[in-house]
Formats: sequence, C-alpha cells, structure tokens
Amino acid sequence: MFEHLATVVPDPILGLMAAFRADPEMRKVDLGVGVYRDGQGNTPVLESVRAAESALIARQTTKSYVGPAGNPGFNQSMEQLVLGAAHPALAAGRVRSVQTPGGCGALRLGAELIRAARPDTVVHVSTPTWANHTPLLAGSGLRLERYPYFDPATGGVQFEAMTAALERLPAGAVVLLHASCHNPTGADLSQSQWRELLALVRRRELMPFIDMAYQGLGEGTDADAFGLRLFCAELPEVLCAVSCSKNFGLYRERTGSLHLISSSTGAADAALSQLVRIARGIWSMPPDHGAAIVQAILADEDLRTRWASEVEAMRRRIEELRLELLQQLRRHCPQRDFGFIARQRGIFSFFGIDTAQVHALRERHHIYMTDDSRMNIAGLRRENLEYFVRAVAEVLSG
Ligand SMILES: Cc1ncc(COP(=O)(O)O)c(C=O)c1O
Repeated sequence: MFEHLATVVPDPILGLMAAFRADPEMRKVDLGVGVYRDGQGNTPVLESVRAAESALIARQTTKSYVGPAGNPGFNQSMEQLVLGAAHPALAAGRVRSVQTPGGCGALRLGAELIRAARPDTVVHVSTPTWANHTPLLAGSGLRLERYPYFDPATGGVQFEAMTAALERLPAGAVVLLHASCHNPTGADLSQSQWRELLALVRRRELMPFIDMAYQGLGEGTDADAFGLRLFCAELPEVLCAVSCSKNFGLYRERTGSLHLISSSTGAADAALSQLVRIARGIWSMPPDHGAAIVQAILADEDLRTRWASEVEAMRRRIEELRLELLQQLRRHCPQRDFGFIARQRGIFSFFGIDTAQVHALRERHHIYMTDDSRMNIAGLRRENLEYFVRAVAEVLSG
C-alpha cells in the first residue's frame, strides 16, 4: 500500500526552525515561527489561563465526551467575544457556533460546509495569504483562486486592484478575508475600506469567509473585529473561523470556533445540523481542555479583566516594538523607507528584502526569517533590536 509513496518536501518553516535550533551562535534571532514572544523571548502561559486551568482541574468531575458541537458555554462566550454582546445577528437568532480544534479546524469545517452546499464553489484568497489556507481549504475539494491584496511598493493594501478583481466574481463566489493582523503581511483594511467592501460584497452577492486568528493583537479586541462585526450585521450569510491560539496563548490546546451567520433561524438550524454531521466525520468531538479554559475566563469577571490586560500588554509590546524598530531603521538605514512597519498591525510584517538578502541575514548574522521576508516582529527584543538593524544595514549595503 505505502511503498510507492514519495517523501513530502518539508514545510520551509519547519526547516527554518530546525536550522535555528542547530545554530550555536548566542546572538541568533528567530523571526520565523508565528507565535507571540514576550520581552524574554518566551511564549508564556498567560496568568489568567493558569488560574482558570487550576480551578478547572480541581472541579472537573468527568472526562466524558463534550459532543460534536463542543462546549455550549464556550460557543456562547465566543459569539459574544467575537461579535460583541449586543450584536444584531445574535439578537435575531441568526448565529450558530461549533467548537473546533483551533482556527485550522474552523477553516476546514467551513470549507467542508461550503462544499456540501455547493461543490463547484471557488474560494478566493488574498495574494499573498497564510500558506496553510491552501491545504485547509483546497483539501475539502474546493477550488482556490487569488485576488490582489498586498502592495509591496507601499507595504499596504492594493485596495483598488483588490476591489476591481472582486467586482468580476460571479454571485456565490467565496472571498476569504483576514479580520485583522493579516498573515503574512500585517497590512489590514481600514474601516472605510471595510465599508466599501461591504457594499461590493452585497451588490455582487459574494459570500464572505472571515478568518480571525489575532483578535486583540492589532488595535484592540473590538477594533480588530470591526469588519467582521459589520459584515455579520449587514449581510445575510457570513462564515467566521476564529482561533484562540494567539490571544489566549493556547496554541497546543487546539482551541477555536466556527460561527455561521444565516439568513433565518430555520436556515441556521439546518446549517448547524450539517456542521455537526461533518464534524462527526472528521474529528467527531473537539478537545475539551482549551475551550473549557476560555469559557472559564470569559464567564468570570475577575479572570476576564486579567485576561484583557494580558492581551493588551501583548498588543502594546508589538506596537512599541514596531515604533522602536522603525526609529532604529531610520537611523541606520536612512536610504530606505520602512514607514510601513508602523502602519502594519499584528505580529507579522513583510520586511520587503529579497531572498538573497534574507539568506545573507541568516548566514552572516544568524537572523532567521522566511525566504519571502515575512518576519515575526514579536521575535525581536529591546536587547537585540540594534543588532538586527545593524545587520539589515550591512546586508542592504551589499
Ligand atoms: C491567519 C491564520 N488563520 C488561522 C490560524 C489558525 O491557528 P490555530 O489552528 O493554531 O488556532 C493561524 C495560525 O497561525 C493564522 O495565522
């Protein structure tokens, strides 16, 4: 059966991680892996998570199954966190939610639902998009196409080219959008662009599928959900895939949710029954632990306040690092405009250097980022900012 299988070419990010680990240089800098890091370079367990987790373990009485849609308390808390407690779609009973193994599980489950509804649907993703969107969405059998998004000249969004491309799509086409903190570019839509996009999506009868993996790490928990909330309030149907990996620091616990906004309560119930059927056929039941922690935090005023201040501290650190990095780049590389660093949001930026320069950074200075020059800003620390910037200056000068 398996003798003829060829070895899969390893994911470049895994190769980069292995090369970083094997590098004995003390000053090495990892800007590759997409996890938040604190000022000491760690990805810590949040204090609010630790507190919720110990209380949970002490009072847990069973490890019985949670059911294919997951923990109802978690689903409800997530609806309120994602949409805001007073959202009109919630009041109208148009939202149905399923707990999923991470944001990845939500993306795959959403794609499978689209495939079940209309197998010939094409999903349109931004150029570029997170590399794992391709296997997660196309793995369901849906076709993927791309729309223009990132403008390397400005480090921002090519909004005119994007909307011109979306204008040409047929009704029913799915458009995958990043709610905020676009991965890999850090370039986000402004509120007025979300409004313009809403009018287009409505006029062309497109179906938005919104991926929110960084709520709270861009401009704040509410601001980062602005476009998602607007679309869910104004459109008959929206799918939202949400991850708790980054904002709760729960990466390995595989915690996420899929939220479906339907045109009516009847359509919502039918779609939920399909989601449950599909989930049964893939993972059957989601893992409990991470979702139980999130529910415990969101349901308790004290824990929620502690969590909110921890997310805000992560967000501020990223924002401050961006500003300090820009200042240093202006001092050491004045010939080049890096202003986009301060305009972009979240942990990622496309740094805008070529592959040879990325390799030179790695080989000469032990600084690791992916070949397309995506860098994890949170991988920098105050202590190595200047080292990084001097290395960039050396590489840029030839
Ligand atoms: C854009 C985007 N979507 C979704 C995810 C899903 O994350 P997870 O499955 O780890 O919750 C990630 C994680 O890196 C991401 O960057």
